[in-house]
Parts: sequence; C-alpha cells; structure tokens
Amino acid sequence: MASISLKNIVKRYGTGKAAVPVIHGVNAEIKDGEFIVLVGPSGCGKSTLLRMIAGLEEITGGELWIGDKVVNNLEPAKRNIAMVFQNYALYPHMSNYENMAYGLKLAKVPEDEIKRRVDKAAKILELSHLLDRKPRQLSGGQRQRVAMGRAIVRQPQVFLFDEPLSNLDAKLRGQTRIEIQKLHAELGITSLFVTHDQVEAMTLAQRMIVMNGGNVEQFGTPEEVYHTPASTFVAGFIGSPPMNLLKNAPNGRQGQILGIRPEHIDLVEAGGWEFMVETVELLGAERLLYGKVGGEDVTVRVEEGQPYPKPGETARISAREDRLHWFHAETGKRI
Ligand SMILES: Nc1ncnc2c1ncn2[C@@H]1O[C@H](COP(=O)(O)OP(=O)(O)O)[C@@H](O)[C@H]1O
Ligand SMILES: [Mg+2]
Repeated sequence: MASISLKNIVKRYGTGKAAVPVIHGVNAEIKDGEFIVLVGPSGCGKSTLLRMIAGLEEITGGELWIGDKVVNNLEPAKRNIAMVFQNYALYPHMSNYENMAYGLKLAKVPEDEIKRRVDKAAKILELSHLLDRKPRQLSGGQRQRVAMGRAIVRQPQVFLFDEPLSNLDAKLRGQTRIEIQKLHAELGITSLFVTHDQVEAMTLAQRMIVMNGGNVEQFGTPEEVYHTPASTFVAGFIGSPPMNLLKNAPNGRQGQILGIRPEHIDLVEAGGWEFMVETVELLGAERLLYGKVGGEDVTVRVEEGQPYPKPGETARISAREDRLHWFHAETGKRI
C-alpha cells in the first residue's frame, strides 16, 4: 500500500508548436489507503491523469510520488499498480479462473500461490461458483467483477479505476458500487476512481477531486464539496438538480453571484421573491419546479405531500439565509 503525491503535474500531448496542453499543474496528496474519486466532465483530463500515474502516459512536468519514491520514469510494471477499465477485455477462450490467474502465471508465481490468491479474490467478489465458466456465460456485472479479481490477485499497492461501471445498467451500477466499497473496506488499498458521474462520485468517495479543463477545482470530502463548493463550476456540477446561480438576485450584491440549491428554497405565503412557475417535474419523493425570478432561471425542490403551484402560476419563495453561497462574478471563485 502507498500514498500518492502529485506535485505540479503537467501534461502536453505532442511537442513544439503542435503541443496541446491538457493538464495544467495538478497538485494532490492522497493518503495511504484512501479511496479518492476523480470527477469531472468528459474531456477534462481524468484518464490522462490516471494513465500518467499508471505509467502508460509520459509526464511532461512535475513530480509523481508513489510511497517515498519519485516514479516519473519508472516503467508501468515496476509501479505495482493495477488498473480496471470500462472495457474489461477478458480473454473469451479462458475460464474465469484462468483470466484471473493469467497475469500471475506470466509473472511465474507458483501454482499453489496463484490458486490461493484467486480463490481468496473470488470469495471476496462472490465469484467462487463461477470460476470454471467462460466470461460469456456471465452477466455484465459478473464480468466486471472478474476484471476486478484479475486486478486484486496482483496485490497491488494502488488500484486505478477508469469509469469501470459505465457499461453497466443503472441497477447493476448501484450494486457494483456497493461491492467496490466493500472491497475497499476489506483490502484497504489506496484507490483512485475516475467517473464523470457526480452521483457515483458522491456515493463512493472518501475524498473527491473535482476537475475542470485540466485543473483541479476542489479537493475535499463529498460533504465539503456539497456544502462549500469552491467555485461556480463545482456548485453547478455537484448536486442534482444543480445549484441555482443568480447574477441579479433581488438580494444580490454588485459583482457577485448568488448560489442557492433547489432543496434550500421554501415556498412562502408572503415576502421572499416572486417566482413564475414554467414547468413542474414529478419525481417519486419530490417535485421540481422550474421557473424564473426576475429574468433568471430558478429551480425549486418541493417535498412530496406539500402543495405546490402549477405551471403558469406565480408563487413566492424564500432562500434559506444560512444556505446562501456567494461567488466572484468574474473568477467564479467562492467568497
Ligand atoms: N493522445 C492524445 N493526443 C492529443 N490529445 C489527447 C490525447 N489523448 C487525450 N487528448 C485530449 O486530452 C484531453 C483530456 O482527455 P482525457 O484525459 O481522455 O479526458 P477525460 O478522461 O476526462 O474524458 C481531451 O481534450 C482529449 O482530446
Ligand atoms: Mg476518460
């Protein structure tokens, strides 16, 4: 097991005039045994960062530490890292046992040690009864677990996951998420998990790195990121539906943006702001009201069972004072 330290990590693809800067100086200190989620929109550089840590991509600038060593120039096989991808690429002609054992065979690990490790991983992943089958005889979720098993048996000091659940349907994604959490609780291996899905990030992370355009916007626990987003980007990206961001709120301040989450706005009889309701979405336990305050879009969340205005009606709403967020209008940074 090991800590990971990113010190001003830079990545440019290509050289000279054709160079494309992709990662602009990322800093992060990941503790031994932590489960970190790297989250951000598609194209923000998550895979690039992960691949640099794995050694699959050259590091243009900065220092990458794993444990007490700088590993910038250490070849992938020597980093003692296991990576799980979205496309798990199991060998179709091998049994699931053989798939999990294959890497260890290549590394000339003795047969009885291989069996011990594969059996243990299979037990943790609840695959013991499926080891003799071929991958095609498994469900998508089970196949992804075989791919994780293949990573576990290597006993790496670091696990890297690149959107491993993206190919699974919603229900299976939820189940596999829970299994990954159990796995981490059991093995305690330092893990870096990439996703573009903020719900996945919020539910899995001990701490999360929110990335945007090759920069780290915020590094914190899910609670910190939700309650004190560092920027309008984070405020809009984390939380569903996203935080309302108002340039001209009735109680606004010159040069500042007011942020208020839909779940922190109440319908009131009098006072507050005038809210023109445009559409209403009925979700199981809540109603989402979409409308306007002044000319600006505002979403309000109303609990099931409460009365709520209909499209075309005007209501009054009040933003909870202790839940207001203020951001610089120009930089988007939290004040
Ligand atoms: N081999 C490459 N050459 C040039 N640009 C690349 C290469 N790989 C990725 N990129 C660019 O780097 C940026 C980040 O890509 P990536 O790390 O795959 O993002 P993410 O995983 O967050 O979706 C994107 O703009 C992408 O087009
Ligand atoms: Mg990616």
